[in-house]
Amino acid sequence: MIQKALLSAAVTILLAHYISRQKRDRKRTVDPKGERVIIVGCSSGIGKDCALKYASRGAKLVLFARREELLKQLRDECQEAGSPLVEYFVGDVTKEHDLQQLSDFTQEKLQGIDTVIYCAGMISVRPFLESCGVSVVDKTATVDKEKSQAVDAALLNITTINYFSAIWTAKLFLPMLISSSVAPNYIVISSMAGKVGAPTRALYAGSKHALHGFFDSIRVELKLLNVHIGLVCPGTVDTDLRFSAVDTSLGSGTVSGSKKNKLSPNQVADRIILASDLREREVYIPSWFGYAALWAKLIASPLVDVFAARKYKT
Ligand SMILES: NC(=O)c1ccc[n+]([C@@H]2O[C@H](COP(=O)([O-])OP(=O)(O)OC[C@H]3O[C@@H](n4cnc5c(N)ncnc54)[C@H](OP(=O)(O)O)[C@@H]3O)[C@@H](O)[C@H]2O)c1
Ligand SMILES: *[C@@H]1O[C@H](CO)[C@@H](O)[C@H](O)[C@H]1NC(C)=O
Repeated sequence: MIQKALLSAAVTILLAHYISRQKRDRKRTVDPKGERVIIVGCSSGIGKDCALKYASRGAKLVLFARREELLKQLRDECQEAGSPLVEYFVGDVTKEHDLQQLSDFTQEKLQGIDTVIYCAGMISVRPFLESCGVSVVDKTATVDKEKSQAVDAALLNITTINYFSAIWTAKLFLPMLISSSVAPNYIVISSMAGKVGAPTRALYAGSKHALHGFFDSIRVELKLLNVHIGLVCPGTVDTDLRFSAVDTSLGSGTVSGSKKNKLSPNQVADRIILASDLREREVYIPSWFGYAALWAKLIASPLVDVFAARKYKT
């Protein structure tokens, strides 16, 4: 049994390696110099580093997030880095109206778009029942009604930012991509939590998993239009994401998170841009970690739970 599983794993790894090699030859036909890129959620972290890297390649950029001061600074930095055209637009992805205005703004400033990077996101950091105000003593559970309602708000907020808004953005930008680019790319930043569940990440993992179902489906629908859909799944990255977690106020005590082996937003941004250039459908960062987790999940799921529990120390 185990031998069979290992053998099939080995065969698949070889196949995947072969296929990804081939894919690397399928380069995109958009010139990086002058590539029109919008980055949704780029005032900090991974999105910010993507913006700076695209700028240094000479891309034309539209930057979007809520914090205007940071966007203004980033615009200046992008100009210094070599972008011929950088505009920013202040708004909230959870407001469809803002996204509508953003799409009009982008059409006006860039006369179309080649690449959309959807990077806005929010995380959860507490065990679900703890957030709900459920305490269990000697198998007796008591419920805090107020907290339970607050969890509903948190669920709605995180799912909107991570999932609904990614779809609203797609709805608005896919038509523009299709009509204005020779090789349209829509890239979504998911997470390893979009492929594998983990304690304290339930709300987060749920919303990220949902992205894969939606975007894997429309990828097939859009194939004949030459639209590329890419999903990028990083492991833990050294950003401020955890400080604005949706459930911070829903409990007390320390917030769960892994400090070891953090990726830098800089290296993640490099990989995102490569994934876009090569039109890769799904990438894991680091790659070995993603494939190990996915294979382990297929052939020995309980093992994944053990590692997930250890990583988040529950
Ligand atoms: N950090 C990690 O460990 C990690 C791991 C895997 C995946 N990711 C994913 O990477 C993406 C970027 O996260 P990050 O780590 O770079 O964290 P971050 O620094 O907190 O970046 C999040 C960005 O999203 C923007 N944003 C959040 N809510 C928004 C809203 N309602 N409207 C408009 N913009 C909004 C923020 O800008 P404003 O606050 O100015 O609006 C910020 O620029 C997220 O999708 C996250 O899930 C992160
Ligand atoms: C949800 O979002 C609303 C609107 O932005 C905000 O007022 C509220 O505090 C958020 N609630 C939670 C639990 O995140």
